[in-house]
Amino acid sequence: MARIGFRLEEEGRRLRVEGSISPPGDKSITHRALILAALSRTRVELAGVLTAHDAKSTARVLRQLGVGVGPLRRGQGVEVCGRAWRRPKGTLNCGNSGTTVRLVLGCSAGHRFETRLTGDASLRRRPMRRVTELLVEMGAEVKGEGEDGLPISIRGGSLTPYRCESPVASAQLKSALLLAGLTGGVAVTVCEPARSRDHTERLFRYLGLDIHVEGNEIEFRGPGDWPITEPYELRVPGDASSAAFLVAAAILADEGELEITNVGVNPTRTGYLRVLERMGANIRRENETEICGEPVADIRVGPTELFGTEVEAGEIPGLIDEIPMLAGLASQAAGETVFRSVGELRVKESNRLALIADNLRALGASASVEGDDLYIMGSDARLRGRVETARDHRLAMAFTVLGTAEGAEIELSETGSAGVSYPGFLEDLRMVTGG
Ligand code: S3P
Repeated sequence: MARIGFRLEEEGRRLRVEGSISPPGDKSITHRALILAALSRTRVELAGVLTAHDAKSTARVLRQLGVGVGPLRRGQGVEVCGRAWRRPKGTLNCGNSGTTVRLVLGCSAGHRFETRLTGDASLRRRPMRRVTELLVEMGAEVKGEGEDGLPISIRGGSLTPYRCESPVASAQLKSALLLAGLTGGVAVTVCEPARSRDHTERLFRYLGLDIHVEGNEIEFRGPGDWPITEPYELRVPGDASSAAFLVAAAILADEGELEITNVGVNPTRTGYLRVLERMGANIRRENETEICGEPVADIRVGPTELFGTEVEAGEIPGLIDEIPMLAGLASQAAGETVFRSVGELRVKESNRLALIADNLRALGASASVEGDDLYIMGSDARLRGRVETARDHRLAMAFTVLGTAEGAEIELSETGSAGVSYPGFLEDLRMVTGG
């Protein structure tokens, strides 16, 4: 049991958050950069890559497919030697990573050998049919062993050009289809109900692929003379979702100002910054630039008295992974915060919707789920109690940060799951809080 009380040693101490810190490499972009490099026929140098468990799952799976992927070590570049993928010897274990399994399923739809994929207990419970049904329509053969989850075997076929009106705004689903188009050599159009993160589109464009976006419609006109044969380099920016925990710590503090450098500020990922600004936070962006097709900036933020807000359904895809942290902050805000249409949270690494509400209530806060909406009533009562993370990294990190709130005494079932997306999270939080 991890006891998180950043103010406990000195009861009543004013918490100062300060300094300058960089979040680890972006998880979504790391998966895509590794996969696209693996699909090339050349040597690719990747810098800024995330070295967390999820990224290692993608690297491991690509090695099993015959690709040369160097070790993922903190602070070091990664060399990928792309080549034609080979039938893997064993089952591909995607660990905890939904992005790994869904993107590799998409790639496998364009390969004529059979690939069997599985994952840890959390990943095996997550829905896969939303992706596999579409890949079958494109021409792949899929055999599922469970109801709607892993393990799954897929054999690529000869794919037909495809147009999909997607019922969910899911970047994993969209990316699986685009990657199927790339590996299967066919055009794909995806129309999303709302814009989900667009890293795949940006990376396709960066690599010279024929992709066009208009509104919520993404048209990939086919791979042309892909694969890439000329060596290239790519730099992954810092993860906006990991930065969200640092932003929250700065907001909850009593004094100081935190500088978070090299943060991805892709508009399809920064919905949480817009919501926090609406809640009263003053978040300054500096040194805005673009790295390998992705917008990047330094962020400055400090303590804020927050007030509640309504987060509308259309905003959810742009902040889906930040809801645990935003919900925690909402419990400290004045008034009510509502998150509309967040049913997708039920099928993340845990049932996040239920666990956010249950855990906030276990700490004495007021939170409820009505249909697909999440309601949180802020208060200045001290948070005290035990949190069950279900080994979900974002729940573990969100409630750890909430433990820095004034008077909070929070016990967590574990904090090790943070390593799924943010190695060194506790050390970084201690550093900025002087804890
Ligand atoms: C991701 C997409 C989102 C997000 C996940 C990463 C991606 O999932 O929650 O953490 O890298 O494409 P969905 O596609 O299921 O919305």
